Amino acid sequence: MGQYAALGDVAGKRVLVRSDLNVPLDGDRITDDGRIRASVPTIRELSEAGARVVVTAHLGRPKGEPDAAYSLRPVAARLGELLEREVAFAEDTVGESARAVVDGLADGDVAVLENVRFNAGETSKDDAERGAFADQLAGLADAFVSDGFGVVHRKQASVYDVAQRLPHAMGGLVSTEIEVLQRLTRDVQRPYVVVLGGSKVSDKLAVIDNLLGKADTLLIGGGMVFTFLAAEGHEVGKSLLEQDQVETCRDYLRRSRESGVEIVLPTDVVVAPEFKADAPPTTVVVDAIPADQIGLDIGPDSATAFAERIAGATTVFWNGPMGVFEFDAFAGGTRAVAQALTEVDGLSVVGGGDSAAAVRRLGFADDAFGHISTGGGASLEYLEGKELPGITVLED
Ligand code: 3PG
Repeated sequence: MGQYAALGDVAGKRVLVRSDLNVPLDGDRITDDGRIRASVPTIRELSEAGARVVVTAHLGRPKGEPDAAYSLRPVAARLGELLEREVAFAEDTVGESARAVVDGLADGDVAVLENVRFNAGETSKDDAERGAFADQLAGLADAFVSDGFGVVHRKQASVYDVAQRLPHAMGGLVSTEIEVLQRLTRDVQRPYVVVLGGSKVSDKLAVIDNLLGKADTLLIGGGMVFTFLAAEGHEVGKSLLEQDQVETCRDYLRRSRESGVEIVLPTDVVVAPEFKADAPPTTVVVDAIPADQIGLDIGPDSATAFAERIAGATTVFWNGPMGVFEFDAFAGGTRAVAQALTEVDGLSVVGGGDSAAAVRRLGFADDAFGHISTGGGASLEYLEGKELPGITVLED
């Protein structure tokens, strides 16, 4: 229990654990339970030490009031299966049900509170409103463990304000994530290759900006690549294009030439007439994208070239799929990048969100990679060099 020394002996104490249990659901079926599995060790460790564990978490982005579509009930059930023990579920976050469930806990028991974002105070920008809600959450516990790495970039009541109100400690998941990310920012073992994909370049601007001074090579795929290809003067047909970012991409390409940080774009892409699983795919070179087609993946030559760059690296960070991996015909680029990461002789990190879901969907085992982060936005913000409120608050 070294990790939780600041809390003293947790036996018999009510410990509020902020986990990130924000998993993808299809109805009430969990399609990727990676975040729940990643949350288990901390919860189990506290429970085995005799704490009365009260887990708080969010699911999706409900509008500050109860919404059955975002209930954590199925998530609590899955947590119980993974822990192999009963997990109590409170039908609200800080109300009557929560108080009764917490009061009913014996030493070592575990409870999950209903979606913390069913309460407007959780995400309020108003410090007083957030603080009032944090007071209620803190009232349910004697100590706080921050273990939701995926939300540490959010200044929200259950992440930030509650830590100011209770004796607190960083959870094991958060500290592992931070240790790995430090290896991507300090004393990096080179060559350092970063693979970026996903749909929007506007989500990745700050990280590209920062990495242009840090990585040796940036490999770019996914929907965002078409804005880069447009910046190089290519016609991109009906592909995703952020016209207002073309100039920024042109500037990155210029800076890359000046700084010696290589930006590698695909030389071929897989296109189709529509965004559909059974749309007929065609591979074309990037200067021959037909006007009536949409680019849905990087092409096979580019996938081979990206895999070769990854193979030559000692440190690799990957965020964002290379194409529409959910459709088999357009999963080749993402599969090739994932495969190449599994063969890296060094540190390979898959950065959260869609990329983590992609590797699991494509059948790769978690332990084939050095680390699969549970934080998409959080790991990107860390790499952008931003301060993460949920981390700084623990240091105070
Ligand atoms: C995530 O899915 O990246 C985290 O759970 C944070 O969710 P949010 O972007 O809705 O704050």
